[in-house]
Amino acid sequence: MTWIRDALVVGANRGLGLELTRQLRGRGARVFATARVPSEANALAATGAEVVALDVEDEASIARAVAGVREATSTLDLVLHVAGLLHDGELQPEKKLDDVAPEHLARSFRVNATGPLLVAKHVHPLLRHERKAVLATLSARVGSIGDNRLGGWYGYRASKAAQNMVVRTVAVELARKAKNAIVMALHPGTVDTGLSAPFQRNVPPGKLFEVERAARQLLAIVDRADASYHGTFRAWDDTEIPW
Ligand SMILES: NC(=O)c1ccc[n+]([C@@H]2O[C@H](COP(=O)([O-])OP(=O)(O)OC[C@H]3O[C@@H](n4cnc5c(N)ncnc54)[C@H](OP(=O)(O)O)[C@@H]3O)[C@@H](O)[C@H]2O)c1
Repeated sequence: MTWIRDALVVGANRGLGLELTRQLRGRGARVFATARVPSEANALAATGAEVVALDVEDEASIARAVAGVREATSTLDLVLHVAGLLHDGELQPEKKLDDVAPEHLARSFRVNATGPLLVAKHVHPLLRHERKAVLATLSARVGSIGDNRLGGWYGYRASKAAQNMVVRTVAVELARKAKNAIVMALHPGTVDTGLSAPFQRNVPPGKLFEVERAARQLLAIVDRADASYHGTFRAWDDTEIPW
């Protein structure tokens, strides 16, 4: 039996979100799992999760999705915000200043920073209850300003840094409004998904996690999390990352 009775996974169509949903279902949790196009989310439906339509670039769809969840349950034990964007067709991580394109930056910010903020805006009332509640957002170590030594990837780095500020600021507000809620940003490590696929050549041996292992490591942190985790940015091995 898990302490997680009701969970919401945002961005569960593939990659880490799909595997996190699968593992939560395996533990007996009821999972509301979002996909942009539910009619095409066959692997997700096969997990037994309740598939909900949500596009983080569209606030109305976030509001509709959360309203649907609220009809089914008045509380959530866990919200995992997994949806994120590194590359998509013409949008590729910039190697140098000359590659920077405003429309690509704007989209990265819409998905990676505005998305988690809007989801928090709509979902926070469901985290106000007497049991432990976790709102965990998948960020990335490259979003750390203090840790940035390599440069490059302007849009992804800057939008993940903005996401981190969103997490920290939501943590401050929810400390007052949802006293049992633990809000944190998590770095999953480099994981073998479509997001990392074009960049795996440079990953040292043993540093590319299978998605099953990465999801297990993230859920272990969520399980362990107590009040001391609130407002922190943590890596897959549960060490803190500088903001
Ligand atoms: N993989 C890594 O090595 C790695 C490393 C560090 C951090 N992360 C972070 O971990 C998270 C998950 O990454 P992943 O590797 O699982 O990526 P992925 O395989 O590319 O999956 C991305 C997920 O985000 C969803 N998504 C993208 N845009 C969306 C939007 N506008 N609205 C709703 N959902 C949207 C996708 O849905 P569709 O299927 O509909 O596109 C998909 O489910 C991301 O936030 C990423 O930044 C990953």
